[in-house]
Amino acid sequence: MTAPGARGARDAGPVLRPRRLRATPAMRRLVAETRQHAADLVLPMFVREGASEPVPISSMPGVVQHTTESLKKAVADAAAAGIGGIMLFGVPEHKDAIGSGATDPDGILNVATRLAVAEAGDALVVQTDLCLDEFTDHGHCGVLDANGGVDNDASLERYREMGVAQAEAGSQLLGLSGMMDGQVAAVRDALDTAGHANVPLLGYAAKYASAFYGPFREAVQSSLEGDRRSYQLDPANRLEGAREIDLDVAEGADIVMVKPAMSYLDVLADAAASSPVPVWAYQVSGEYAMIEAAAANGWIDRRRAIEESVLGIRRAGADAVLTYWAVELAGWIR
Ligand code: PBG
Repeated sequence: MTAPGARGARDAGPVLRPRRLRATPAMRRLVAETRQHAADLVLPMFVREGASEPVPISSMPGVVQHTTESLKKAVADAAAAGIGGIMLFGVPEHKDAIGSGATDPDGILNVATRLAVAEAGDALVVQTDLCLDEFTDHGHCGVLDANGGVDNDASLERYREMGVAQAEAGSQLLGLSGMMDGQVAAVRDALDTAGHANVPLLGYAAKYASAFYGPFREAVQSSLEGDRRSYQLDPANRLEGAREIDLDVAEGADIVMVKPAMSYLDVLADAAASSPVPVWAYQVSGEYAMIEAAAANGWIDRRRAIEESVLGIRRAGADAVLTYWAVELAGWIR
């Protein structure tokens, strides 16, 4: 018996011809399974305390550490581009062992949050990174114990204070990126107790100890020596990523995230299949830098590579994507 679709060579050729739906741009557009929208994009932004002009980040061409003035203009541009939100990171002038700048209402991240909220109005969601690493002199995401290890439960106390400080500054979504056990439950409890029950939490649930954060360390002038492998996930582990997603959902995360994106699309697809809350992905600094560097060398088509990289993350299941190209990509999608 002849297999369906395989009429003999002397007949008319194959019956099943997937190429029919690829024949014209209009047909391809009509049958596309994944669509991008500006509202699905979130722009991470850096704000540097004491800066008098924007400072370029050499490993992330096109990305800067903003001054408070240039931040306002960039937030207005992001709103005009129609993207869904911005995620703020602070680069403080002074750091100490407990990351005091993170909880100081006049600390750079809290100042930047107030400015961004005032500038953005209702046009987009102003989000803040809730982690101590930018603010600690040792560069770790939590506080240290007597042996120099990262103290999980003492760090949770600082996250609780940081969460309240960020909510008070007006942050509309707190991004918990420290990878301490119990961080979502702890910050949820702190916010609810302080009268901020309506401020939502984004759990960086499956955050891997990745080489692709390299350029970010320059962007925030990280003081880290060593690595974060005692708290961020081992890149070898898929089930553990799924477990972290489940835990953050159980602790009350309103949205969960997988990070980085491109090397963890399996983890992302698992999360998208199982999570009852939205699943986001973070296309991190190293993913940005690789494409920019290859494009600058003329080795790949920059625009196509950017579009394809973000499309792949959406196709794998991300409801929204944090990407340093958010505003530029939004301009192309239009
Ligand atoms: C931690 C944090 C990091 C990133 C976002 N939040 C760095 C880290 O975990 O070392 C990396 C983002 C990127 O590489 O673009 N506050």
